[in-house]
Amino acid sequence: MNPIAEQLNEILKKENPYIFEMLSNIGKNLFFPKGILAQSAEAKQKAHKINATIGIATEKGRTMHLPSMMGYINDIKPEDSLTYAPSFGIPALRKLWQESIYTKNPSISGTSISLPVVTCGITHGIATLADLWVDPSDAVILPDMMWGNYNMILNVRKGATITNYQLFDDKGGINIPSFEKKLREEASKKTKIIVLLNFPHNPSGYTASKNEAKEISNILIDIAEKGTNVIVICDDSYFGLFYEEETFKESIFSLICGKSDRLLAIKLDGATKENFAWGLRVGFITYGCKFKSDYGSSYDALERKTAGCIRGTISNASHLSQSIVLKSIQNKNYLSEKGEKFEILSKRAHLVKSTLLNPKYKDVWEAYPFNSGYFMCIKLKVNIDAEKLRVHLLDKYGVGLISFGKDNLRVAFSSVEEEDIPVLFDIILQGINDLT
Ligand SMILES: Cc1ncc(COP(=O)(O)O)c(C=O)c1O
Repeated sequence: MNPIAEQLNEILKKENPYIFEMLSNIGKNLFFPKGILAQSAEAKQKAHKINATIGIATEKGRTMHLPSMMGYINDIKPEDSLTYAPSFGIPALRKLWQESIYTKNPSISGTSISLPVVTCGITHGIATLADLWVDPSDAVILPDMMWGNYNMILNVRKGATITNYQLFDDKGGINIPSFEKKLREEASKKTKIIVLLNFPHNPSGYTASKNEAKEISNILIDIAEKGTNVIVICDDSYFGLFYEEETFKESIFSLICGKSDRLLAIKLDGATKENFAWGLRVGFITYGCKFKSDYGSSYDALERKTAGCIRGTISNASHLSQSIVLKSIQNKNYLSEKGEKFEILSKRAHLVKSTLLNPKYKDVWEAYPFNSGYFMCIKLKVNIDAEKLRVHLLDKYGVGLISFGKDNLRVAFSSVEEEDIPVLFDIILQGINDLT
């Protein structure tokens, strides 16, 4: 094992041996290299005459660039757009995002969290976490409805098993007994369990209520307190898009951070969905755990392992994208702009709800619970294959939806204009009538 990895492991073992145990084999071996990057960083500080370290090109003291390229970037200097960003992400953005996590999640106040490490979108965040914390022999606990790419990342690529609980009960909320049973079952077989929570949820568009969030976190804390190492990954991709009062409008991360020695809380979020900048690919990984005393060195060790993993995959996320996200957050209009977009999506969600109350739809489908995010789903009550209906709606009416399972359709109301919402559901009804 590399001596730097050993040093990081020693810090974790001393400060919280359970967190060390939770690392995968790759995670235990990961470190942030001191090679070229560290020497370049040192030179950046001290090489005032000639700095011939870093592998970019310069000219007359400035970053070499093609004017044809910079012409499109306008306000962001080549130094902040074309050069490499650190594998950890640019410091100002990490700091600002950390502050925003505290602001958006008041329950974490007074609890120490790591600085977020920047990833190339949340997908890359999940893949990075899979390398760090998941071994092929592990099982990852997920609901029976879930974003399909989890399977690609965790099962197909990593070789871990995915094991499901039933997401919804028949009363319109989360099936807490099914969740608890699955977790306790896994905890009875293993020394470590990995739970992936996703709110607002893809595909259903549901976020836990305040009570459900409390129940979920109490179960997680209890299992950890009873002696199982518990890793909880909160995929908060659609964070903030909460449209109803009783919803828990924070991440469950904030309820479990630092609550047990054996509980590792990880928050995944990003500008992709939350700030409507999908293709910029800016995501974040943030840790929340309990350490004996030295939170600074312990989080630093976790951040170094995470950045080491990034160094060994994509090296670093786009500097230009990070600068754009940073400048946008610093812009005085940022919050009001986000508020405006929230209102548009919230209005659509409420219109979907009121449209679905029409009795003409009652016998053909029921909606899964939804109160947040980009999506909602319907479950067909008629005996028609959802995929067949999807193809029919596309071919005959030019309407595109996502089918999954034998009787479910997902509607992304995030990309349907308000005036088209009633039209959309009428076309789905028409499509069903055509096929029955
Ligand atoms: C639940 C969930 N997690 C993660 C992602 C991926 O997000 P990103 O575009 O940031 O990689 C998606 C995108 O569809 C998603 O629905």
